[in-house]
Amino acid sequence: MNPLEDLIGFLRFQTVSADRAYKAHIDECANWLKARFVKMGLSAQTFSTLGNPVVVACNERKKGRKTLLIYGHYDVQPPDPLELWHSPPFEPVIREGKIFGRGSTDNKGQILAHILGIESLLAENGELPLNLIVLVEGEEEIGSPHLGGFLRENKSALQADVVAVSDTGMVAPGIPTFTYGLRGILCLEIRLRGPAADLHSGIFGGTVANPATELSRMLAKLHDDTGRVTVNGFYDKVLSVGDWERQLWSRLPFTEQNWLETTGSPALAGEKGFSFLEQAWARPTAEVNGLASGYQGEGPKTIIPSKATAKLSFRLVPDQDPSELKGAIIDFLTRECPKTVEIELIPQHEGKPYLVKPDSEFGRAAQEALRRTFDKPIAFIREGGSIPITQTFKEVLGIDTLLLGLALPDAKVHSPNENFPIENLHAGIRLNRELLNQIAQLA
Ligand code: BES
Ligand code: MN
Repeated sequence: MNPLEDLIGFLRFQTVSADRAYKAHIDECANWLKARFVKMGLSAQTFSTLGNPVVVACNERKKGRKTLLIYGHYDVQPPDPLELWHSPPFEPVIREGKIFGRGSTDNKGQILAHILGIESLLAENGELPLNLIVLVEGEEEIGSPHLGGFLRENKSALQADVVAVSDTGMVAPGIPTFTYGLRGILCLEIRLRGPAADLHSGIFGGTVANPATELSRMLAKLHDDTGRVTVNGFYDKVLSVGDWERQLWSRLPFTEQNWLETTGSPALAGEKGFSFLEQAWARPTAEVNGLASGYQGEGPKTIIPSKATAKLSFRLVPDQDPSELKGAIIDFLTRECPKTVEIELIPQHEGKPYLVKPDSEFGRAAQEALRRTFDKPIAFIREGGSIPITQTFKEVLGIDTLLLGLALPDAKVHSPNENFPIENLHAGIRLNRELLNQIAQLA
C-alpha cells in the first residue's frame, strides 16, 4: 500500500463534472476506482446513470452486524483560472508536505483516506468488523442530479444504519472536527438580451437599454443596505442559532482577523447583526458566481453589448426549502427586469440544507473515533458548504450522516492551487480504522 502513489494516480483523472468535454476522464476514473476496490478484496460495480457513473463497493453482508455506508465523490470543480495555478491542476506535485491538485481535498484525498483505512483493516484482519458499503459518485459538484433516483432504485441494497462522509472541514490542523450542519443551495442562470447584435455605442447609445447595465441594476437589488436578501419571504423559515451553538462556536480557533486573512479580502462584510461564523454557517445568502457581458479583450471597444448573463447561487439554511424558494426568486428577478430587455431564467441544481443531532449513538461512536485519532477536544461546527445528498440519505434511507471532514481552512477548495496535507491523508486513514471499529462495537 502506497497512499501517495494512489492519490497521485487518482488526481490525474480530469473528472470535471460541470463540463461534458471531460466525460471520457470521468468514465476512466470510475473504472479505476472499481478496480481499486476489487484489488483490496471488496466486490465492486460501476452503475451507469443518465449522468456520470456511480461506483459501489461492499463486503459480504452478515446478520447481526452494523452496516456503514461511506459516501464520497470523484468529480471535481472546473480548474479555471488555469493561469493562477503554480503547477498544472491535474499533474499533482508535493510541496512542503502538501499535495497540490484539483480535487486533492475536495474530495479525492478524503474519500481515498476512507478507502485506504478500510484496506488497511482488511489487510490486517482479513475481514471487516461490520457490513460496509462504499458509494462514490461523479456528480456531487453539480448537485447530485441522479443520485437521489439511484438511492430510491437501490434502496434495499444500500440500506445501512448510518452514513459517514469526509467532505467537510477541520477548524485548524490537528483539531478533530464534527460537522452537524450544512447549508443547502439553489443555483440559476439569468440571461438578458437587448439589441439583436452588439451596437455602436455612439450611434445608438442612449436610445436602447444596455443589458449589462440592467443586469447590474437587478443584481444590486438582491440585497438591501444591511446585507439582507430582499426576495419576498426569503427568511420565513430560517431557524435561529441555538444558544448552545453560539457557546460552542465562541470557543473555536476562529477570529475575525484569521477569517479575513484566509479570504484575502480587504474587509469582512455581509448581513449586519450576525458574527462571521453565523453569517457563513447559519444565515442564507445570495451570491453572483459569474458575470459576463460585452468586450473582455484588451483596450477599449465602444459597444452596447447585445447580451448579459449572470450565474447565481443562493445558500440556504435549515429549514428553508430550495423548491419552495425557487418561485419567489424567479418572481423577484422577473419583476425587477425592465421591459426594455428580454429575460430568460434557467434553473440549475438545488440541494436541501442538513442538520443532525451530534449525540446519537452513531454520533458518539464517531466522536470517540475522532478523539482516538487526534487526541484533542472535538470542535462541533456547522459549515457553509453544501452536500446535497445528505438530506436525501435521511429522506430515502431514513439514516443520519456523520460529517467527519479533513479539509483545512486554507485548502483552496474550488480555487487555484487546491491542496491537501499528506498528514491529513494519514490521519484520515487512522480515523477510518477507528470509525469502523467504533461503529462495529454498537452492534
Ligand atoms: N465538500 C464540498 C462541500 C463543503 C465545502 C462542505 C466546505 C463543507 C465545507 C462539496 O464538494 C461542494 O463543494 N459542494 C458544492 C455543492 C453544490 C455544487 C451543489 C458546494 O457547496 O458548492
Ligand atoms: Mn466541492
